Amino acid sequence: MKIGAHQLRNGLLVAPMAGITDRPYRRIARRMGAALAVSEMISSRPELRESRKTRLRQDHAGEAGPISVQIAGGEPQMLAEAARYNAALGADIIDINMGCPAKKVCNAQAGSALLADEALVARILEAVVAAAGVPVTLKIRTGPAPERKNAVRVARIAEAAGVQALAIHGRTRACMFAGRAEYDTIAEVKSQVRIPVIANGDVSTPEEARRVLDATGADGIMIGRAAQGRPWLFRAIARYLESGERLPAPELPEIGALLVEHLEGLYDLYGEEQGARIARKHIGWTVRDLPGGEAFRGEVVKLAGAREQHSAVNDYFAKLAA
Ligand SMILES: Cc1cc2nc3c(=O)[nH]c(=O)nc-3n(C[C@H](O)[C@H](O)[C@H](O)COP(=O)(O)O)c2cc1C
Repeated sequence: MKIGAHQLRNGLLVAPMAGITDRPYRRIARRMGAALAVSEMISSRPELRESRKTRLRQDHAGEAGPISVQIAGGEPQMLAEAARYNAALGADIIDINMGCPAKKVCNAQAGSALLADEALVARILEAVVAAAGVPVTLKIRTGPAPERKNAVRVARIAEAAGVQALAIHGRTRACMFAGRAEYDTIAEVKSQVRIPVIANGDVSTPEEARRVLDATGADGIMIGRAAQGRPWLFRAIARYLESGERLPAPELPEIGALLVEHLEGLYDLYGEEQGARIARKHIGWTVRDLPGGEAFRGEVVKLAGAREQHSAVNDYFAKLAA
């Protein structure tokens, strides 16, 4: 799959997840096989640019390209300016968030709420494409609500505006995360536009990835929650899509080493105190299916310091190995 001039090594993308797909996570997911990892959404409001949260989300130090940065907001000129600003900071691709169902995306109509106003969608996309100077991609849901699915119209608007790829989560805004994602709408969109289409929603195994690609004809697949604590899922899916080979689950030492690398990345990016706090959920996701994982998770949330957390994780995996 190609996004603008960027030839991706496969069609596997990491879904942007605020609070999760930060630089340490993206680095590991990319190394494990994802071709592209979209950043957490970054507010388009200029007054937030210097906030610590935004600065950390804009930190791409040491990341391999192409770097895709997601911007969020509801005002065309502000989004255009945010696109230009983030491209100047190193974004190779600007992604626009019209997929997030949260009410509070920048305290304004933004994310998937925008899908209800197609004229505004067009104005935003035209303004951002004109300003960005790099390829622009769009992430949407299938529409505002099940009885108002407008993904095909939005996709046509996007293509006409010069958007270079479209990711679609197979739920409407009103669905939040309930029920199962559906792929018929994604297949319909794919048949109606020429830009690359990336299918998203509920893909958690290599076989599901194959099924969704076949059912939709999509050019790529984007994976969010299923890879939390399991970044090797990208490797397993990439291999399966390439050759049909089913890789075995990783060995415990590899899982431990990946988690420790992740923790060190978090301490480094956020500082030890905040890094250790953020690390708890990643530790929980990683150990949940391992022997004694639940009990260990209960213990590790009680540890405040990075050093204690780091050595507890090392000890846990050392015991498992023994
Ligand atoms: C914790 C969390 C945070 C998310 N943050 C974002 C975000 O910042 N931008 C966005 O476009 N989507 C966001 N999403 C939606 C995901 O990118 C994705 O579309 C959704 O989780 C469905 O894919 P999955 O079933 O593979 O998880 C978020 C989802 C979760 C669970």
